[in-house]
Amino acid sequence: MKPQDIRLMLDEKGFIDEPVSSDIKLVEEINRLKKEKNAVILSHYYVESDLQDIADYVGDSLGLAQEAAKTTADLIVFVGVHFMAETAKIINPSKKVILPDLKAGCSLADSAPADKFAEFKAQYPDHKVISYINCTAELKTLTDVVCTSANALKIVNSFPPEQKLIFAPDKNLGNYLNGLTGREMVLWDGACMVHEKYSVEKIIQLMDQHPDAEFIAHPECEKPVLLVAGYIGSTTALLNYVSKSDSKKFIVATESGILHQMKKACPDKIFIPAPSIDSTCGCNDCSYMKLNSLQKLYICMKHELPEVTLSAEVIKKAQLPILRMLEISK
Ligand code: 13P
Ligand code: SF4
Repeated sequence: MKPQDIRLMLDEKGFIDEPVSSDIKLVEEINRLKKEKNAVILSHYYVESDLQDIADYVGDSLGLAQEAAKTTADLIVFVGVHFMAETAKIINPSKKVILPDLKAGCSLADSAPADKFAEFKAQYPDHKVISYINCTAELKTLTDVVCTSANALKIVNSFPPEQKLIFAPDKNLGNYLNGLTGREMVLWDGACMVHEKYSVEKIIQLMDQHPDAEFIAHPECEKPVLLVAGYIGSTTALLNYVSKSDSKKFIVATESGILHQMKKACPDKIFIPAPSIDSTCGCNDCSYMKLNSLQKLYICMKHELPEVTLSAEVIKKAQLPILRMLEISK
């Protein structure tokens, strides 16, 4: 394929749509390319199980950023969504960062275009900005400190109580943090298309049917859902919780990919995905995360494309709030 055809295809489809012979053993080939190119594969808990299993590191947004910060690999292969690969690039400007599908976006990141956010921020000149890592690199340039769901409380508490704050882009996580801290952070009106779809009525019905189950939820869920949860935490916190808890059954309100790690960690326990408003829509799956596949991963490593690129100016400005987060999270 000619370079200009590849460029066109990446623009249109987001990945190189190249046929792969059925003789090719994808897992073997990916592992071979990994060695040959001194690559590291970083996968989020929400991608398909086979992509979690082939990773050098699988984790939540914080763990993945920390892993990216310490890698010695020449090539970073990010099996997750675009903002995560961008974060890896911002931390490692001299390394090549690739992801299997450029169209693996995020509804939260999309909800906060940097130009609109800059106008919003201008209304609050005495406020500092905390941005959830699920946002674009451009939004990070307008941020004082980045956070993830795992360290959000610590990041908020790192500011003196009198400091006024804006929290963007997830209003549900922001609301939850306001409740925990008693602050009145100004919230950007964004939400995750997976976590805002849970039905509290159906969850309560399910809890009635399974009185022996604990209901646990990610803080990106809406307030009525969080109000009935017995435990609230980031994906890693939820995973640790099910391992430590004496309960044998859990109703889980976060993206279904995490169930793979929960079942691996606790094969004797039962995990029930929390029901969404529309049970036929597959809402518990993040359609962006699920754009990744073994075949796309293989082709992406073979061509080292699509690559995540950012201007030197964006990298310089976006790096500071990420490094502050990593420092506070130590
Ligand atoms: P964490 O990885 O911080 O748990 O966030 C979940 C998520 O929605 C990632 O896209
Ligand atoms: Fe974004 Fe939600 Fe998908 Fe995470 S699960 S990548 S927050 S849309």
